[in-house]
Amino acid sequence: MDITSKLSDKVKHLEASSIREIFKLLAKPGIISFAGGAPDPNLFPKKEFAEIAKEILENEGNTALQYGITEGYAPLREWTKERLVSQGILDADDDVIIVSGGQQGIDLASKSLINPGDGVVCEEPSFIGGLNCFRSYNAQLFGVPMEDDGIDTDALENLLKEHSNIKLLYTISTFQNPSGITSSLEKRKKLLELAEKYDFLIYEDNPYGELRFSGEEVPTIKSLDKSGRVIYFGSFSKILAPGMRLGFTSAKAELLERMIICKQTQDVHTNVLSQMIAYKFVTKYSIDEHIAKLRQVYGKKCKLMMETMDKCFPESVKHTCPQGGLFLYCTMPDGFDSKEFMKKALEKNVAFVPGTSCMIDDKATYSTFRMNYSTASEEEIVKGVTLLGEVLHDYMGV
Ligand SMILES: Cc1ncc(COP(=O)(O)O)c(C=O)c1O
Repeated sequence: MDITSKLSDKVKHLEASSIREIFKLLAKPGIISFAGGAPDPNLFPKKEFAEIAKEILENEGNTALQYGITEGYAPLREWTKERLVSQGILDADDDVIIVSGGQQGIDLASKSLINPGDGVVCEEPSFIGGLNCFRSYNAQLFGVPMEDDGIDTDALENLLKEHSNIKLLYTISTFQNPSGITSSLEKRKKLLELAEKYDFLIYEDNPYGELRFSGEEVPTIKSLDKSGRVIYFGSFSKILAPGMRLGFTSAKAELLERMIICKQTQDVHTNVLSQMIAYKFVTKYSIDEHIAKLRQVYGKKCKLMMETMDKCFPESVKHTCPQGGLFLYCTMPDGFDSKEFMKKALEKNVAFVPGTSCMIDDKATYSTFRMNYSTASEEEIVKGVTLLGEVLHDYMGV
């Protein structure tokens, strides 16, 4: 029987991301990969987690291994809310739920809000997990280009004038995946102004916001929102460990209620043991000290990658200069194809993500590519980026 003919309209048009295709090649021995988006595993607090997990299972095993409540393990939920309030992101009467990674938050909100044909505006480039989520609800996706200080708000307003079906806008406001760009305060305010004027919601996805290693903090869009238009997604993946699958969402209570109902048909609740380990860690140890260590390591690696690029890449290949997060984004001159470049780079055992995976029209040709600096060692960064420089000179004939 051909099961593909039975697939739902929601999923039959989805394609495996080329990142996943690249991941298959990463098993190749000796490969240096800048393709992933994961934190540096050397920075996971493994020893502390091992001690805490033992303590929890010995003393609170009945709670840790029992069904939990869908909204999240209450102590972690309260701690998360207090931290977001202390950071000025939430008001005291805002509500938060714990979800199984920021990705689930985006999915639950989308399941609750998006009807087939609703318009969703995305930054271009954007995060493949967000794009594929909106695709899976048969949204009509619109891309608006990124500028050095965030989304092009003039192009956005033109789009809003033309299309009356736009229900929401998805932005990764700080250290964007894939570009590393942080939206300016002016652009954040402009987005809220446009959201009021054209009556749409804003998804502010902020899994990297805590990982700032230079520059000044910019207030989140959520903190500037006075009317409850912003749905805020955060994550413990990049500050603790992604395998724990812990994230959080804040939105108006009426939307969170819907998301909770949807979560009950997905995973009932987020893993209780993970939530308890995270809670014990953040209350027993200093999370700020832990984050300071991450910032220091990622800042150093990012600087090294940019310096090596500046030394080894053709001058016409530009890169962004992130002030935090895990990625920087490179642009070759027009006419070059980052997928072609990737094939040549893989022959030399170096991997990255071609820009096509981050775009709405993923069949077109793009001259951009994403580089992750968190997982490779410093030696690998120098070796891999130098090799990429050689491949680029060869590919571009310069
Ligand atoms: C922009 C963005 N949003 C959300 C996520 C999902 O993270 P998680 O589900 O691990 O919290 C990621 C992961 O890479 C991301 O880059």
